[in-house]
Amino acid sequence: MTDDLRVRFLIVDDHQSIRKLCMQVGQSLGFHCMEAESAEAALTCLETDSPDIVLADLMMPRMTGLEFLPRVKEMLPRAEVSIMTGHASIETAVQAMRLGAYDYITKPFRVEELKLLLQRMEEKVRLVAENQFLRERVGAETELSGIVGTSARIQDVMRMVARLQDAHTPVLIAGESGTGKELVARAIHFRGTFAKRPFVAVDCGSLVPTLIESELFGYEKGAFTGAVKSKDGLFQSANGGTIFLDEIGELPLELQAKMLRVLQEKEVRPVGSNQKVKVNVRVIAATNRDLEAAYKKGEFRKDLYFRLNVVTLHLPSLRERRSDIHLLVHHFLDKIAPGRAIGISPAAMACMLQYDWPGNVRELENAVERAVTLGSQNTLELRDLPPAMLRSLEYPAESEPLLMPSKSALVSDTDLEEIEKVTIQRVFEQVRGDKMLAGKMLGISRATLYRKLKRYNIGMVRGA
Ligand SMILES: Nc1ncnc2c1ncn2[C@@H]1O[C@H](COP(=O)(O)OP(=O)(O)OP(=O)(O)O)[C@@H](O)[C@H]1O
Ligand SMILES: [Mg+2]
Repeated sequence: MTDDLRVRFLIVDDHQSIRKLCMQVGQSLGFHCMEAESAEAALTCLETDSPDIVLADLMMPRMTGLEFLPRVKEMLPRAEVSIMTGHASIETAVQAMRLGAYDYITKPFRVEELKLLLQRMEEKVRLVAENQFLRERVGAETELSGIVGTSARIQDVMRMVARLQDAHTPVLIAGESGTGKELVARAIHFRGTFAKRPFVAVDCGSLVPTLIESELFGYEKGAFTGAVKSKDGLFQSANGGTIFLDEIGELPLELQAKMLRVLQEKEVRPVGSNQKVKVNVRVIAATNRDLEAAYKKGEFRKDLYFRLNVVTLHLPSLRERRSDIHLLVHHFLDKIAPGRAIGISPAAMACMLQYDWPGNVRELENAVERAVTLGSQNTLELRDLPPAMLRSLEYPAESEPLLMPSKSALVSDTDLEEIEKVTIQRVFEQVRGDKMLAGKMLGISRATLYRKLKRYNIGMVRGA
């Protein structure tokens, strides 16, 4: 890896004037530009300089663009190649695309046209590289558990999950709404030796109070009107596996006593029966309430709290692990629109990075889904984000206000530029001028970052 982080652009044409023009446009985009006057010379360049994007003339002596194209694809499968042609015919275009060209451009072209093409190619190269980078970072651990994140806090959680996967110890998962409590509970169950046994989730908050007991422990025939035959409860269904008691803090006090007895004695008594049934289940409970405070106020049984709380997993809120936001956004983009390689604009990413996320990962997933549904392009833009998130730009949760006219959620282009400038500035300061990291955090390529730093006059741009 060289120190030069710019996109590497190779222009192949036998006409010097065309090469010169393309070099100028490439340079204006912040690319590292190289030229070759023939396909043969270009092949040598491919070997030594591995360009990211290539623009080749169709009609060249000895080797045509269409002959050259497959050679590039063979040597540098990740490079994007476009063809320039003076005689645009549908057949040539189709043939070029079939051979794996990114696009083609017809001579004579306007500088703007060329610029746009090169920018699109850069974007494509960037997306592929970024996805690759993200996939490598997400790695095997995520594949196993579905838990995305590289922050120290979430890595701690993953380590705990791995340690608990085969244990019979009760686990209490505490965390705000949407932090992934159920995801983590499932990961603990499905990763280990319990995987082939039942996993039964019980939402203690939504059970009908009068029915909770019979739901959990089952009932005998004739126990109440309508009980025409006896039925197993959720505990019996989970036998041998895991019972996930979600929102345990919502369990009514009188049932808490019964629950405690079940956990201690490992047996349940179906409603209307005087026989107890043995059950062997691993209990994972979850809560978004502070159960310690609740038992101190007399709203939760202290003995049950200590019974459940043998091991507690505290899930961090999203604002405590903002460094995972970028990864999560891409994870959900991939999940919601697989294969579409949707990107995200720097301004939208910056907005997401500074937002407070009261609904945590679930809120982020919903925001991405909404944006993908509403947005028409292949880039998630600032305007596709929910209004509440855009408003947060006017009143950021953290310290200094952003330079934004505080009127409404409608943002003009000049506002966008201002937002972009301020956010790049902030991120740049945060990472102490580390361009690589700044680019990653902002979700933009090194070339784009260089261009924007230059444009907004941010930092010291050395040798770019
Ligand atoms: N670290 C993560 N990586 C990937 N996806 C996540 C992560 N955390 C949460 N999610 C996703 O976010 C959504 C909400 O997660 P989950 O239902 O587990 O949260 P919860 O804490 O149980 O929320 P609630 O308290 O509202 O029930 C799910 O779609 C889940 O897959
Ligand atoms: Mg939940």
